[in-house]
Amino acid sequence: MAARLIDGKQIAASLLANVKERIDERERRGRPRPSLAVILIGDDPASAVYVRNKTEACRQVGVVSVSHIRKTAPSEAELLALITELNEDASINGILLQLPLPPPLRPELFIEHILPAKDVDGFHPYNMGRLAVRRPALRPCTPAGVMTLLHHTGGSLRGLHAVVVGASNHVGRPMGLELLLAGCTVTTCHRFTTDLRAHVASADILIAAAGKPALIPGDWIKEGAIVIDIGMNRLANGRLVGDIDFAEAQKRAAWITPVPGGVGPMTVATLLANTLEAATLQSAR
Ligand code: GUN
Repeated sequence: MAARLIDGKQIAASLLANVKERIDERERRGRPRPSLAVILIGDDPASAVYVRNKTEACRQVGVVSVSHIRKTAPSEAELLALITELNEDASINGILLQLPLPPPLRPELFIEHILPAKDVDGFHPYNMGRLAVRRPALRPCTPAGVMTLLHHTGGSLRGLHAVVVGASNHVGRPMGLELLLAGCTVTTCHRFTTDLRAHVASADILIAAAGKPALIPGDWIKEGAIVIDIGMNRLANGRLVGDIDFAEAQKRAAWITPVPGGVGPMTVATLLANTLEAATLQSAR
């Protein structure tokens, strides 16, 4: 039987509609609209597209976006000074530093300089640590968006074996923490994992986040699994594909996300939800 599609586009649209409703409601109570500062450094075309999608989503829900675009990279000191300014600006609720940064700029230096309360990406070690100790504050957007997709499949996640392929700081690692928090038994696979196939074959929930096209053949997947593909790989012919062979995987899985139209829109919608949450928490102080 063919898998049911998890429609990330539609689920993201309903999350955005909910965020807009809550922002409109706040406005009726005289609260200012939440605001998001977006920093884009360099000329990476994919980053420019992501930032455009994020600012368009801000417009859609009524978040004020303030762009800081620097085509030529600033010095470390200049970028730190910009972040300090945004940290201290009470009219800014969220700060998003689009990654990757052009070398030699070191992302961790700047991520750690963002005030945790304004870290709407959830990348600051404080926010990652809060997730690790089961007291989540601002959660990394892609893993949180994946959890929303998983909950839409309707079943309990408790006790399921979740296998995450990829152990990056911003996706694979927090993804494992989210699944653990939801009561899954979690395995994280990475470049040194031996016998990836055996791990994939034992997954009730398979999450691919390696960024390698065709890394996971569809016939490795357990019958009835929930399959989430976070990979977004642009092929030479211009096609966008995930890490999993979709056509074959679809024949075995119970649920599957498409690429594009699966996880991608959820990352953006979760960013907007985080921006509203940051604004709400800041005004409660
Ligand atoms: N680059 C690719 N994805 C992301 C993301 O979710 N946040 C940031 N800041 N940069 C990215």
